[in-house]
Amino acid sequence: MAEVEALQAKSATEVEALRIKYLSKKGKITALMADFRNVSADQKREVGIKINELKNKAQERINSLRETLASTDTEDENIDITRTAYPIKLGTRHPITLVKNEIIDIFARLGFSLAEGPEVEDDWHVFSSMNFADDHPARDMQDTFFVESHPDIILRTHTSSVQARVMERQQPPIRVICPGRVYRNEAISARAHCFFHQVEGLYVDKDVSFTDLKQVLLLFAKEMFGEETKIRLRPSYFPFTEPSAEMDISCNICGGKGCSFCKHTGWVEILGCGMVHPNVLELNGIDSKKYKGYAFGLGVERITNLKYNVKDLRMFSENDVRFLKEFEAAN
Ligand code: DAH
Repeated sequence: MAEVEALQAKSATEVEALRIKYLSKKGKITALMADFRNVSADQKREVGIKINELKNKAQERINSLRETLASTDTEDENIDITRTAYPIKLGTRHPITLVKNEIIDIFARLGFSLAEGPEVEDDWHVFSSMNFADDHPARDMQDTFFVESHPDIILRTHTSSVQARVMERQQPPIRVICPGRVYRNEAISARAHCFFHQVEGLYVDKDVSFTDLKQVLLLFAKEMFGEETKIRLRPSYFPFTEPSAEMDISCNICGGKGCSFCKHTGWVEILGCGMVHPNVLELNGIDSKKYKGYAFGLGVERITNLKYNVKDLRMFSENDVRFLKEFEAAN
């Protein structure tokens, strides 16, 4: 009985072998039944019950082995190993990821390493440590998403917060590039979205000048948009940089001649930049007498629009596969 209960099989063929061994015409149990006529009359009843039990048990065990094997399907004898494989559908990288990677790549070649910070941030890292006055309009409820019931916890509105995250744990020299998603409380349209992507750059060392910044940004523009690309810097204002500037590149859609994308000016703005404000260095534990720095922040969607001529920001988050498939070649 124990022998029958312990029967094992790894394949349908093995199960069939067991059936033949025990239950077929020449099987062990069938042989026992044939011997039955030699059993003495007074034992017939008892032995008969035992043999029947044994036969049923064997049948049960073999059936159950067959069922388990069928459900796990370890051996499918119908596999045609000569058949050509079905094509595996590969996904494609999202255009924002493609452009982000390209930006990281260019700056990596210039010695910048990667740094990241949280998207759910506190007021200190997003605003205070970046030299925003308490009444600065950027803190306004209209622009910033707050975590309900925690007025100090917000969704970061820019990746400049990662500058603070880096400086608080590292002394110069600092050369980092910080890509990430940012959030602003804006009505969604073709030109604005409530979330988008930025790449922040921060360079802090002794003797850093605005010339270094300009040269790095020129090199970036040429690498990204082609050797013929020109840049121009316009004075601007950011609380965390002094002096501050916005950088335009010659419109790569019309080559600078003027088109609807560049509003017929021949130039398009791609980033904000400047020399790190001494207050920002001090607020983050870096001696502003000893060190200087430059920083810049660029919008990934903006660069992608320019590079791939995408006109509607919403395309990036709707995930229409027909749109995404267009970037297959760039993958
Ligand atoms: N944080 C700015 C924004 O979101 C972009 C920016 C401007 C970043 C100038 C910088 C900078 O690092 O120096 O609009």
